[in-house]
Formats: sequence, C-alpha cells, structure tokens
Amino acid sequence: MQHRIFQVLIIFLAPLIQALLTASACQELLIPVPVNVPRYNINVTVKDDWDAAAVTSNLTRRDAGNITSPLPITGMTKEPVASEFIVGATYCGNGSTVLILSHGIIESKLYWHPNLKGAEKYSFVDAALKAGYSVLSYDRIGVGSSSEQVCLARIATNLLIGAVRIDGLKDAQFQVQTAVLDYITTHVRQNMGAHKVALVGHSYGAYLSAASANHSNVDSVVLTGFSGFFDHFAPFVAGAGLRVAKMHDPHRWGSLNSTFLTSSDLFAETYVYFKEPYFEHRIAKWTHEVASEPFAVGDTGSGFAGTVRCFCLWRGARSIGVVNNLLAGHNLNLHKVAPDAFKIVFEFLKSQGV
Ligand SMILES: *[C@@H]1O[C@H](CO)[C@@H](O)[C@H](O)[C@H]1NC(C)=O
Ligand SMILES: *[C@@H]1O[C@H](CO)[C@@H](O)[C@H](O)[C@H]1NC(C)=O
Ligand SMILES: *[C@@H]1O[C@H](CO)[C@@H](O)[C@H](O)[C@H]1NC(C)=O
Ligand SMILES: *[C@@H]1O[C@H](CO)[C@@H](O)[C@H](O)[C@H]1NC(C)=O
Ligand SMILES: *[C@@H]1O[C@H](CO)[C@@H](O)[C@H](O)[C@H]1NC(C)=O
Ligand SMILES: *[C@@H]1O[C@H](CO)[C@@H](O)[C@H](O)[C@H]1NC(C)=O
Repeated sequence: MQHRIFQVLIIFLAPLIQALLTASACQELLIPVPVNVPRYNINVTVKDDWDAAAVTSNLTRRDAGNITSPLPITGMTKEPVASEFIVGATYCGNGSTVLILSHGIIESKLYWHPNLKGAEKYSFVDAALKAGYSVLSYDRIGVGSSSEQVCLARIATNLLIGAVRIDGLKDAQFQVQTAVLDYITTHVRQNMGAHKVALVGHSYGAYLSAASANHSNVDSVVLTGFSGFFDHFAPFVAGAGLRVAKMHDPHRWGSLNSTFLTSSDLFAETYVYFKEPYFEHRIAKWTHEVASEPFAVGDTGSGFAGTVRCFCLWRGARSIGVVNNLLAGHNLNLHKVAPDAFKIVFEFLKSQGV
C-alpha cells in the first residue's frame, strides 16, 4: 500500500518539478527600444467591420502580391521618426547562444511557449533550453505586452514622461518592426552576454527576421511558415475573416484602437493556421482563445509587400537548408510534428557551429 502511494506521488510530482524549473529559468523583461526610421503615411480609416471588409478586399485583389501598396500609401516621412517603444519579452536560459523568436500575425510570444497543460511537446522554448540555447521571445510592437511607447511632454519648464498606446497605422509598420528586432539583437549581444545570436521567425516574424538579418550582426536565421513570396497571401487574409478586435471582443480588446484586427472565430483561425489531421483541436482552441492577439493594419501596409520582395540575403549565406515536407499547417510548432521540426532546427544550427 505504501509502495503504491509513493509511485502515485512521483507521477504527479515529476511534471510539477519540471514546471517549476522551467518557470524559474525564465524572466519577464520590459526592454526600452529606441527606434529612428521613416514612416509610411497610410491614408486609410478603419473604424468598423465595413472598413475591415474593405481592407480585406484591397489586400486580396488579384494583383495584391504584385503591387507595392495594397493599402493607400500616400508617401513616406522625409525624416526618420524617433520613438521609444517598451517591448515585453520572456528570456529563458543562461547559455551564451541566444535565439531571438519573432511571432506572426494574430499571434503573440506565447506561440513559442504554450501555457496549457500537456503541451510541453509544442514548446519551442523548452526544446531550445534542452538543446542548450537561451531564448528571448518578445511581443511585436502593438501586440500584448508591447502595446505602449514612451511619451515626453514639456509643460512650462517641466518635462513629463508618460506612456501612450502604439499607433496601429503610424508605428506598427514593417520597417519599424525590423528596427525593433535590430535593436534587440544588439541589446542581447551588448547587455545580456550573448556571444552568438540566431533569429528564429514564424510567418510575418520570419519576414522581419529575414529583413533584419540582412543588415544586422547575426550568426544564423531560421524562417518558418515562410515562402519568400506572397502567392498564398490572399486565401490567408480572406480566410481569417478579419474583424475590428475591440468590437469583436470588448472584454479582451476593448481598449485597442479600431485599427487592430483579429480573426472572426475559432474555425476561421483554424482554416488559416492548422491542417487536419495533423493537430489536436484543443491546441487550435487554445491558440484562438489564449495566444492570439490582434495585429495592426499598418503592419500589412507597403512595408510588408514592398520591402521583402528581393531575397538577395541568400547570396551572402554560407549555407542554406530548406525543409518542405513536414506534415503541418502554417502554425508549424503547434502540430504533432513539432518535436521533429525542433530537432531539424537545432541540428541545422549545431551543424553551423551555432
Ligand atoms: C486621404 O483620403 C481621403 C479620402 O479618400 C482624401 O480625401 C485625401 O485627399 C487623402 N489624403 C492624401 C494626403 O492623399
Ligand atoms: C482600397 O483601395 C482603393 C483603391 O486603391 C482606395 O481608394 C481605398 O481607400 C482602399 N480602401 C481601404 C479600406 O484600404
Ligand atoms: C505583376 O508584375 C509584372 C511585372 O510588372 C507583370 O508583368 C505581371 O503582369 C503582373 N501580374 C499581375 C497578376 O498583375
Ligand atoms: C545555467 O543553467 C544550468 C541548468 O539550469 C545550471 O546548471 C548552470 O549552473 C547555470 N549556469 C550559470 C552560469 O548560471
Ligand atoms: C537586403 O539588402 C539589399 C541591399 O540593401 C536589398 O536590396 C534587399 O532587398 C534586402 N533583402 C531583404 C530580405 O530585406
Ligand atoms: C485610432 O488610430 C487612428 C489612426 O492612427 C487615430 O487617427 C485615432 O485618433 C485613434 N483613435 C483613438 C480613439 O485613439
């Protein structure tokens, strides 16, 4: 009898101990990120779902992947615009090789580290820690814990410092997001003791990683949910059934500006991100109900369509690997094949000395 109780205890304790270890190996950070780049002027009003439907229509027109401005861009600021964003990040591990993880659209940094029970196999963060890496996942600006920027105001002789919301048209733009990632890379090297840095991106985060790697000091890049082209952009945008987030779920997103959009429901999100029968329904449900966060209309502007068309990046690469035979939908990490995918990523990095 005693023996039996002992065994039961072990079974229940083992996951608990692991959870505690994982938690204590991670810390939540708020990183001030100064950015100074020009901004597009996007002349569009998005105040309700009629506008969301109009934006969807423009983004999915027949030649949308072929034009530089699927949104009405009226130009670019002549001068760079200086801002200081407050970026929320989760840093785990103590290794000197750091993987910086950039998530995609209608996602958050939780994509890399699902926080529901029995989802350990889907955690890229846990797999990376086991493989000896440190990981820094962050919310893209405009998303979740990265929704604010520093605001300075001078009243008479007093300088006041406060925080204001990130603007869904003027701030959340491709080249701004890229500059944020550039800064985080430098920060991790200079202030967090990283000797080697690899960028790992998913979807929009993969496009950002590719653009950032083109001009910053990184040792390797891993792009997932990425083709380099926009051939399948239209079914993705149309299938998501974009809605104004604050009206769609006032309880969760009532404080957001109407320029932030999300998907219409669980099944629209499943259509764009998951492939039957290679995933568990509970994981898709968690994605929709917990991990997904609205994205800003500015992020889908010309910065997206215009900046990343040329992949001259590969010309300078010492080595390239391409994998396109894993049984999964767009959200690769959240399919049953995830452990195999993670293994491929770490084997590639190690083969490159990273
Ligand atoms: C912006 O759009 C509005 C309405 O379509 C138009 O009246 C205005 O001239 C546009 N502004 C610029 C700078 O193009
Ligand atoms: C859609 O595109 C048309 C033509 O370029 C433009 O006039 C209109 O403002 C755009 N609407 C939205 C909501 O993007
Ligand atoms: C895309 O652009 C190319 C080059 O300008 C042009 O030849 C082609 O017809 C365009 N395709 C579509 C679908 O608009
Ligand atoms: C790094 O973490 C490992 C395991 O969590 C621990 O054994 C090791 O002492 C740590 N190293 C440093 C330098 O903190
Ligand atoms: C990389 O930089 C080159 C030269 O500035 C540019 O032409 C190209 O578009 C960039 N590629 C990416 C992926 O940003
Ligand atoms: C929402 O964002 C738009 C576009 O940047 C801005 O013009 C508008 O003032 C914002 N509305 C509110 C209520 O903050």
